[in-house]
Amino acid sequence: MVTTQSTTVRDLRSALDEAEAHGELICIDREVEPGYEIPNIARTLSLQPRCPVVLFENIRGFAGWRVATSLNADRARVGRLYNLPSGPLAQKLYLMDRFESPIPPRVVATGPCKENVFTQGIDLQTLIPWTHGSRHVTHRYFQGPVISRDPRTGRQNVAMYRTCIQGPDTATVNGRWDRHLGHQLGDAKRAGQSLPVAIVLGPDPGLIQVAASKFPYGADDFAMLGAIRGEPVELVRCETQDLLVPADAEVVIEGEIRLPLQTGDDGPWPEYLSYLGMNIHPPLMHVTAITHRNDPIQYMIIPRGSGDNSGVLAGALFLRHLRGFLSTFVEDCTLVPASAMHHAVVKVRKTEPHHEGLQLNAALSAFGFLVELDRVVLVDDDIDIYDHEQVEWAVATRCDPATQVHLLCPGRSHQNNPIAGVKEMFGEPITKQKMIIDATIPWRYRVAEKGPGLTFFTRSEWDAVDLGEYLQPADRERWVKAHATGTLTAAMFDKPAGQAGLPGTM
Ligand SMILES: Cc1cc2nc3c(=O)[nH]c(=O)nc-3n(C[C@H](O)[C@H](O)[C@H](O)COP(=O)(O)O)c2cc1C
Repeated sequence: MVTTQSTTVRDLRSALDEAEAHGELICIDREVEPGYEIPNIARTLSLQPRCPVVLFENIRGFAGWRVATSLNADRARVGRLYNLPSGPLAQKLYLMDRFESPIPPRVVATGPCKENVFTQGIDLQTLIPWTHGSRHVTHRYFQGPVISRDPRTGRQNVAMYRTCIQGPDTATVNGRWDRHLGHQLGDAKRAGQSLPVAIVLGPDPGLIQVAASKFPYGADDFAMLGAIRGEPVELVRCETQDLLVPADAEVVIEGEIRLPLQTGDDGPWPEYLSYLGMNIHPPLMHVTAITHRNDPIQYMIIPRGSGDNSGVLAGALFLRHLRGFLSTFVEDCTLVPASAMHHAVVKVRKTEPHHEGLQLNAALSAFGFLVELDRVVLVDDDIDIYDHEQVEWAVATRCDPATQVHLLCPGRSHQNNPIAGVKEMFGEPITKQKMIIDATIPWRYRVAEKGPGLTFFTRSEWDAVDLGEYLQPADRERWVKAHATGTLTAAMFDKPAGQAGLPGTM
């Protein structure tokens, strides 16, 4: 059991204050247009070595509003906001522990999100800053956690689904049929009821992470956020729907998906894999109220680029899934950022001959975590799975495709991965052949000695020297120090003398 200190983050404003206190907030006071200008400025800033938090203070057409972005884009920042330990594995283990002790939310009578209430004359187009996103996108969007209630169990679900404005008081909610909202909608239809939904814009950025994560259906997402914060999240009742929403959210859009189900038009949208998505027809929500704080701040999530999702929570849930099956045989795992959820690397600890083969069970289990997962690379526990060069090196030097690459059956993938999604045009299922690349050293080869104490996988060993003893100060200054932050590839693979390799064998 890990002791938790309550975080200082309660809402978007306290998170912005925290970022400012650490010099990570950039305020832009020049007037900016929200549709294309804000996302492009935010994306350009996100391409800097570290992505700052941005606060736009002067939004064309939306007097009195500000727009914030990119709080979740940086792993170190997310760690600091929520008092997480440093290092990706330590963060996962800490969060896994926290998720064992959810802290239920507390319902309060009212909160800042009720400072302004609109139930009449609602116009989504003029009331709240929206965005288009990238070029070619003409629809207007909001992105924030969507809260809905299961008509059978009465439990709330919180999930990130984008909202596309359709008319003054209508918008689509892109919770596809295979998402939790889709399941709820199916139940609502069978029960002949409308489905209440609330869209939360500008919440505690931690809620965005929780909403985008694969908690099992029925888990109380607010209790998970409470566990991360170390204290209960405060919720208030909606004005017009039977739903509970965060009391200190900046904006809440209340509404319902009515029967008979209507759909709207959404797309193309700059999707998470950096391709423009397709035109789709998600369910239509009728807006019944909008509430917001005074001096409201809209939070925009700039798709792909700022990648306003550090993946901290997703990683913890992935490891929880794998360890639930194989315990600490699975040392760590990661979803590769460039391919989003489609490629994973799983690090296993083979220490006994009978462990051979178990790595494949770990990979098969990984496919059960995410529908989108298409490829798993397995590596031994001496590989840094966050360093793609090391993973490549392991694949090149430890995997013989003849016996260690496993092509499985095709399984469902995601329509936004174009090589799978294009099949829909041809009336084919959106599938991709699942694949395992086993880059762990086969046990038999791992222990085969080519000389006393030397295996085929023994790494070359080198001694580190103090260059100060050999180089002129000027050369040391201009070469060693100037390149101190550069990548010295060889150093990552050669084993310094005295450093442990794989247990017992290397
Ligand atoms: C910024 C952002 C936007 C997202 N938009 C969508 C979306 O529009 N539709 C969707 O199905 N998933 C979307 N996702 C992924 C879902 O949030 C994620 O799969 C989540 O687990 C869904 O919740 P659920 O498991 O309760 O259905 C988005 C994720 C992020 C981080």
